[in-house]
Amino acid sequence: MTAPPGAVTGFPSDVLTDRLQRALGAAFGPEYADVDPVIRPSQFADYQANVALALAKRLGSNPRAVADAIVTHLDVAGVAQAPVVSGPGFVNLTLADQWLADRVTALAADPRLAVPEQEPLVVPIDYSAPNVAKEMHVGHLRTTVVGDALARTLEHLGHRVVRQNHIGDWGTPFGMLIEHLLEVGEHSPESELLVSDPNAFYQAARAKFDADEAAGGQDFAARARRRVVSLQAGDPETLRLWHELIELSTTYFNSIYSLLDVTLTDDDLAGESSYNDDLPGICDELERKGIATMSDGALCVFLDGFTGREGKPQPLIIRKSDGGYGYATTDLATIRHRVTDLHADRVLYVIGAPQDLHLRMVFAAAREAGWLPDDVEVVHVQIGNVLGPDGKILKTRSGAPIRLRALLDEAVARAAAGLAESRPDLDEEERAVIARQVGIGAVKYADLSVAHDSEYTFDLDRMVSLMGNTGPYLQYAAARIRSILRRAEEAEAVAGDVRVGEEAERALMLALLGFAPVVVQVGEALEPHRLCTYLFELAQTFTTFYDNCPVLKGDDLDVRASRLTLCRVTLAVLDQGLGLLGIAAPERM
Ligand code: ARG
Repeated sequence: MTAPPGAVTGFPSDVLTDRLQRALGAAFGPEYADVDPVIRPSQFADYQANVALALAKRLGSNPRAVADAIVTHLDVAGVAQAPVVSGPGFVNLTLADQWLADRVTALAADPRLAVPEQEPLVVPIDYSAPNVAKEMHVGHLRTTVVGDALARTLEHLGHRVVRQNHIGDWGTPFGMLIEHLLEVGEHSPESELLVSDPNAFYQAARAKFDADEAAGGQDFAARARRRVVSLQAGDPETLRLWHELIELSTTYFNSIYSLLDVTLTDDDLAGESSYNDDLPGICDELERKGIATMSDGALCVFLDGFTGREGKPQPLIIRKSDGGYGYATTDLATIRHRVTDLHADRVLYVIGAPQDLHLRMVFAAAREAGWLPDDVEVVHVQIGNVLGPDGKILKTRSGAPIRLRALLDEAVARAAAGLAESRPDLDEEERAVIARQVGIGAVKYADLSVAHDSEYTFDLDRMVSLMGNTGPYLQYAAARIRSILRRAEEAEAVAGDVRVGEEAERALMLALLGFAPVVVQVGEALEPHRLCTYLFELAQTFTTFYDNCPVLKGDDLDVRASRLTLCRVTLAVLDQGLGLLGIAAPERM
């Protein structure tokens, strides 16, 4: 099969764009040959070009006449049927059946399913970032899941992703945590809480500290304060204990990551503490460049366009009056490091939406300092809150933060209960594996299928449901195709070239060609929910196809071969799509 001329990527909309631009050039002159023809999906054809409406003014003509002139010069032979001008001046385009079929046949032979390998960019992604000696909460869950999907997708598109897990591993609470660790013993059941129930450890340390403070603060609290000083001074024994805390916490983080099937490892740890040595230099340079100034004993950056209450300028504090550095100083160091040492082209901060102001100020200060050149893009991928049924941030009934592990275990338990009913035939071991894939997939998909910056309500029943836009629905769709293909193999049916017959086949073919453009779009817009929406619609389109077009029953071998290929490509797209989202697709369900 020869590639159609001018097909840059083979995506229908790109091919049509190319043809339309040639027509624009021929009709109105070469300066029109790079005008965007505005190709969009259409209700009345496969696509429509809307360019005539925008161009009419510039040409001093009316849109219908412009559309007619375009059509006169448009050569889509072999790609689409004869174009039709409709309405006020739309050019309706319907792909030629054979062209469409050939593209899908080619897709079946392409392991990348037409997803391009792009010019590689270096893309550090800051995501997950839980805090040492604390429980991960649903907010961390969401930045972990969204960040990981973006990392997988950008990597698949050919980019060099550098995962950066900016864990909270520094600050004054470490004085009290280290003292508590010493008191309970490094290898005690209490220290083990750091792995199994970190908040319990933290709260015990905090309770001791507060009780001593109330009693004058001469004992535990005083030791905790001295510990902070020793930690900052680099006292070896203190550093050893601090490392111990981090190690126990990373064991906890890793257990969650492995349960979640997230790609973060110890190599990706780049916590707050790793920037300690950079902080004095950050402040010096900002001061020297006249960007930071002293205000009430603190070193501050005042930025244009950032005003606080009552219109007063809002400072970004980079050194407190006690000489300590803060969260903002560390984040300035992250930018400088990522641009200067990692040679980033694009930096993603996958962080809660409430930190928007903080990041905008940090980005602006970094630009002013010259650490962030104009050709490096920094993006705050905002993560919206996860809410409980009461519309407030998800908490337990008693108001305590939800334990992430308990939540994930509950999701897996519900999936297991569902499977015990629907698949009693499977042996227990296999069912346990599937339950885990389904329960975890359900939670991850719920995080991913909503625009990452909007809030959503955590509802396990809805998430694990096999109906609606859920992870299990897509997993089930894939498992069902696998079972069709198993039966085809038993029947020794062979797949072959795709051909257009029924309308439902044509719709499925068009949908399959939409995969690669969506993946590209997710990489550009950093919006995994677009891939979710696409996969959900594809699964529905497949269902309509399967209801209307018998695959193994007919006697026409060519039709059967074509339909089998459609099943295969659909499965490949579902598998690859779920894979980019970080969701496992079970063999059976
Ligand atoms: N540890 C912080 C938290 O739990 C998130 C850190 C995000 N990353 C960053 N570079 N500021 O809220």
